[in-house]
Amino acid sequence: MVILAIETSCDETSISVIQENPIDSRILSLVTRSQIEEHFAYGGVVPELAARAHLTNIEPILNQAIQQSGISLNAIDAIAVTAGPGLIGGVLVGVMLAKSLSLSLGKPLYAINHLEGHALTARLSHDVSYPYLLLLTSGGHCIFVEVLGFRKYTLLGQTLDDAAGECFDKIAKLLNLDFPGGPALEKKAILGDPRRFIFPKPLQHTPQPNFSFSGLKTAVKLVIEKNTLDEQTICDIAASFQYTVGEIFKERTSKALKCSHHKVERLVTAGGVAANQYLRKKLRDVCDQNTIEAIFPPIHLCTDNAAMIGWAAIEATHNGVLPSMNDFQPLPRWPLENLNL
Ligand code: KG4
Ligand code: ZN
Repeated sequence: MVILAIETSCDETSISVIQENPIDSRILSLVTRSQIEEHFAYGGVVPELAARAHLTNIEPILNQAIQQSGISLNAIDAIAVTAGPGLIGGVLVGVMLAKSLSLSLGKPLYAINHLEGHALTARLSHDVSYPYLLLLTSGGHCIFVEVLGFRKYTLLGQTLDDAAGECFDKIAKLLNLDFPGGPALEKKAILGDPRRFIFPKPLQHTPQPNFSFSGLKTAVKLVIEKNTLDEQTICDIAASFQYTVGEIFKERTSKALKCSHHKVERLVTAGGVAANQYLRKKLRDVCDQNTIEAIFPPIHLCTDNAAMIGWAAIEATHNGVLPSMNDFQPLPRWPLENLNL
């Protein structure tokens, strides 16, 4: 089965042609264009601009993805598209293209949940078998989920306020770092002293593997306001913040392992924040301590991409999920657990 997949839920316009082959020949093409230029001056994603940029860029990206795959549009078996959660203007652009292709080519359409795409990426990149513990950490989400099988998702913990990626982005902005903030902050942290500033770890003393990042964000903001932001101080604040997030991730992972209803043999970390090398090392350490395997998809599959959406559709077809047509609504909010079969 060959799938053409479309992802436009945030600030990456991405199209992929993907097939269910052995692991190293699955992705026939993956073209992703980040909207860094469009949002740079604002220091964050502006939904209206994002939707317009998707509209401008989606057709050339479709042509490139088709050309690079070496497969003609007619030879594609199905179309997959992110139908939420995300910025609704962007989601609508992707869904309209997907519906048009589906109707004109006479191919079935699969409406895919973006979080499910992230949740299953490690099966695309590493053939990870079910069950596994998932830490999904992105710009909009920070959750622990037991992935027992396809659409058998049990939520173990979640953020009560901000997502980790959102916190990275906001602190990067306060430090006047370039957009996108997460990778810019990681670069500064390499040169900083992680022990110079001591930041709180909210919800440290509760047994549930929940997160809260707003108090941490406020504590960092106060330090930024009180200090002169010379280059070394910027690096030290970045390092101290990232160190704290690492400690939080380690400690909450231990809690998630305790709360899990099944014996956990592997932890998969997915979503944009999983691109952070320092946090990967921390998560690897906690997995080693608990003698479980740590799995991270490659960075271009951790951040938003259409290949993960195509893969989720391939798994859907294997599990008897019927194609969608007019029976789905693009959704700005769409929790992963609502998908359970
Ligand atoms: O999964 P993703 O690409 O989009 C969403 O669905 O949100 O995640 C984007 C988030 C942003 O908050 C971005 O700053 C963060 O992931 N991110 C990082 C890094 N790369 C991306 N955060 C920390 N370190 C990074 N290297
Ligand atoms: Zn995402």
